[in-house]
Amino acid sequence: MAETKAYSQAAGTGKYEKATGLLGKYDNVRRFWEDQLTGIMLRPYLNELTDRKHKQLKRIRIADLGCGSADGYDLITGVNREEPGIYDFITAAVTPETLQEYVGYDLNEDLLEQAREHLSGNGKVRFEKADFSDGLKMLEKEAPFDLYMSSYGTMSHFTNEQLVKIFRDICLHAEDGALIIGDWLGRYSYEWQDLWHHPPDEEYFMDYRISYIYPEEERDQADIASFDLRLMTREECINIIKRVEQETGVTIKPLHFFDRSIFVGRHLSTGDYNRHAPRWLRHQTNSLFEGYTRTDLSTLMVDFVPRPGFDHLNNFYEHFFMCCNTLIEHTIAMLRNYNCRKGELCERPPEVPPYYPEPLKDAIHTMRAVIEGSGWLDWGDPRANIIEPHLGYSLRKMEMDLQPGTGVGHSLVGVFQVVK
Ligand SMILES: C[S@@+](CC[C@H](N)C(=O)[O-])C[C@H]1O[C@@H](n2cnc3c(N)ncnc32)[C@H](O)[C@@H]1O
Repeated sequence: MAETKAYSQAAGTGKYEKATGLLGKYDNVRRFWEDQLTGIMLRPYLNELTDRKHKQLKRIRIADLGCGSADGYDLITGVNREEPGIYDFITAAVTPETLQEYVGYDLNEDLLEQAREHLSGNGKVRFEKADFSDGLKMLEKEAPFDLYMSSYGTMSHFTNEQLVKIFRDICLHAEDGALIIGDWLGRYSYEWQDLWHHPPDEEYFMDYRISYIYPEEERDQADIASFDLRLMTREECINIIKRVEQETGVTIKPLHFFDRSIFVGRHLSTGDYNRHAPRWLRHQTNSLFEGYTRTDLSTLMVDFVPRPGFDHLNNFYEHFFMCCNTLIEHTIAMLRNYNCRKGELCERPPEVPPYYPEPLKDAIHTMRAVIEGSGWLDWGDPRANIIEPHLGYSLRKMEMDLQPGTGVGHSLVGVFQVVK
């Protein structure tokens, strides 16, 4: 029958699959939290770079090291120049007009093929196979780039010796003012608390499994390959930079280090590396951002289990999760006593003590304004579609404001500038 053939044909394209942001590589946390947080943190440096190049009547050239399927291209071109107001149309920091060329390098042909397909028709992008195990030889035939970037843990594939060669080759190739973005896995993420004890002055590679993309029931049966990935601290990055400076005589100025995904790193959901991990947390945080899906907010509260002997980390996490839990408690309390008919809170909301950290006070006040401003809407499920996503953004903001940038998130990102 014609319709059977048509439906089967459509299903065969894969595009008929149910779309959900609750699971998978590009889940809601990845898109609305991790990508966005990265963009907000990179924004001032990208703005400065594009402005500087523009004054020189030049556009920017980007090398994406370990580009995979070109997620870095989407990440960088998705960074906004500023928080867009309510009226303005969003303006990206790197637009097609300000980009001269983007070149993605990777070892994996399959991923490069995906990248080419993803950006086919875009004349300003190019993908090349390259192995960085012994430095970046492929740069020799290229004009200098303005941005040498990596994203989502790529730099964790390399040892100290290899990283020194990679940074050295960038320094020799780059011109004054070029930016480098190094993206590693953080050494002291809560999701791998069982691995914290490895000596910080020794390189440590974890046995990494991409197990989180499988639903829990399939995880044990699936034959999931594992590979070594380096866990990093800010101090280890700085030591590498110092060695490169000594070797090349070029200054590498660290501009900013930040942690990404402290609250809900991917591996919390597997519990592979933390027996106390709240395994439901990533799913529930994804649910906050999922349209027309209500979340039991109490499931977002984290009962952090300290690891004896790691006071410094325990103190950080205790404080961080107490702040997050307090925001969630206040949000639940305000929702409970909100009168939708009158469009106001029935009782005064719980006190916000003046000694709370500023980011927590801001987040509570913001959630109150969001609830009071939208809870009365009669259609479009304001709780699922406005209030819950905003709780997600508020938690993300607290992660940005309360973090040390030392390697306590799933990822540690360093932004550096070459000074010649
Ligand atoms: C964690 S993935 C990140 C991919 C991509 N940047 C993203 O944001 O999703 C690391 C990438 O580094 C690449 N890679 C690993 N070892 C490499 C090597 N020795 N030389 C070049 N690329 C390598 C892998 O093929 C993979 O695409």
